[in-house]
Amino acid sequence: MTDNKPPRKSMRELRPATRLVHGGTMRSQFGEMSEALFLTQGFAYESMEQAEARFTGASPGFQYSRFGNPTVAMFEERMALLEGAEAARATATGMAAVTASMLGQLRAGDHVVAAKALFGSCRFIVEDLLPCYGIASTLVDGSDLAQWRSAIRPNTKVFFLESPTNPQLEIIDIQAVAEIAHSVGGTLVVDNVFATPLLQSPLKLGADCVVYSATKHVDGQGRVLGGCILGSEEFIMKNIHNFLRQTGPAMSPFNAWVMLKSLETLPLRVMQQVRNAERVADFLAEQKSVERVLYPWRKDHPQHELARRQMSAGGTVVVLDLVGGKEAAFRFGNALEVVKLSNNLGDSKSILTHPATTTHQRIPRATREDMGIGEGMLRLSVGLEDIDDLLEDLKAAADAV
Ligand SMILES: Cc1ncc(COP(=O)(O)O)c(C=O)c1O
Repeated sequence: MTDNKPPRKSMRELRPATRLVHGGTMRSQFGEMSEALFLTQGFAYESMEQAEARFTGASPGFQYSRFGNPTVAMFEERMALLEGAEAARATATGMAAVTASMLGQLRAGDHVVAAKALFGSCRFIVEDLLPCYGIASTLVDGSDLAQWRSAIRPNTKVFFLESPTNPQLEIIDIQAVAEIAHSVGGTLVVDNVFATPLLQSPLKLGADCVVYSATKHVDGQGRVLGGCILGSEEFIMKNIHNFLRQTGPAMSPFNAWVMLKSLETLPLRVMQQVRNAERVADFLAEQKSVERVLYPWRKDHPQHELARRQMSAGGTVVVLDLVGGKEAAFRFGNALEVVKLSNNLGDSKSILTHPATTTHQRIPRATREDMGIGEGMLRLSVGLEDIDDLLEDLKAAADAV
C-alpha cells in the first residue's frame, strides 16, 4: 500500500457524504481509483522473521483473511466513519454480527435482557441458543421501561434491542435503556438495521455496541450477505476482536468490495427510499382494505414522538395490517407486479413480506400475536422505483383485497 499525501483535514473532520466516498481507502502501488479487491486467503512474508513478527504482532500487516484483509479493512473503516465509531469488524452475515456481539461478551452464568419484538433469528439467539450455553435470558415489552428494570438480576450483563423493530416498527427508547443497562454495569447492544446508520446513531444515544445486517441497506441492491459490529476500540478489542478471529465468521473480501462501493451511494439511495416510503405510508392509510398503517413519521404511530426524538427520518419500511387476515394479505401480495415478494429489506427493489408465514413463521402463533404480528400484517420495504408506478401497483393490490 502506498502512503497517501498527508491530508489537510482528517477523514473524521470531513462531512458524512465525503467520508462515504473516500473514507477508509488504501491505495496499492498502482494508485487505482476504485478500491482494490484483494481476493486472497492469505499473504506472503518476506522472511521467516517477518512471519514470526506478524504473528506476535510486533510487525503490522496482514496474515490470513480470517483475521483481516485489506478490502475488508477498508469496508470496516468506512463503516466506522459512517457510524462515528472508534472501531468496526465485518462479519459474513448480520446474524453472525448479532451472535458475536452477544457471545463475545457473555459467559455461562450470565443473564441477558432483550425486547421481545425481535427479528425471528435474533429471537432464536436470545431465547433458544444462549440458554443452551448456560446463559439465561428474559424477554420484555421493549417500550415499557419498568419491565427492563424489573427483569434485571444480579448477573445481568447484556441488554439487546432492535429499534424500529422487525416487523412491527415499534420504537424503543435507546437512551433510557442504555441508562438502565449502565446503572447495573451492563452493556447495551442495538440492532440498527431498520434505522440504518444514516437515520439513527445508537452510540451517541449511549449504546455500547451497534450491529448491522449489511445485507440490507448497506448493499441495498440484493447481491451479497454481510454484517458489521461497531463500538469503542476498547469494547471491540475486549469482546469481539479475538472471538471473530478464532471462531471465523469472516466477511468475504468480494462481499466487502461490493459493500464498500455501495456505501458511496448509501445516502442517495436511503433518502430517496425514505421519500418514497413516506408517500406510500400516507397512500396506504387512505385505502379502505387497510386497517392500519405503521410508519414512525406518521402522527398516528404509537411512538411517533420518540421516533422524532431519536431518529432523523422514518425509515424505508412501511407496515400495513389488512382487514381479513392471512387471506387478505395473500390476495394483496399476489396482485402486486412492480413490488416483488421476497424477504430482504432495504433493497432498491420494493419488497413485500408476510412475516407470519415467512420471517417469523418459526415463532408459535400465540407468541407472534403477543409480539404484535398478526396474520394480516404485511411488511413493505420501499425501494427506488418511480413513486407513481409504486402507488399504482399498491392501489391494484389494495383493490384486489
Ligand atoms: C433486524 C435484523 N437483524 C438481523 C438480521 C440478520 O441479517 P442477515 O440476514 O444478514 O444475517 C436481519 C435480517 O433480516 C434483520 O432484519
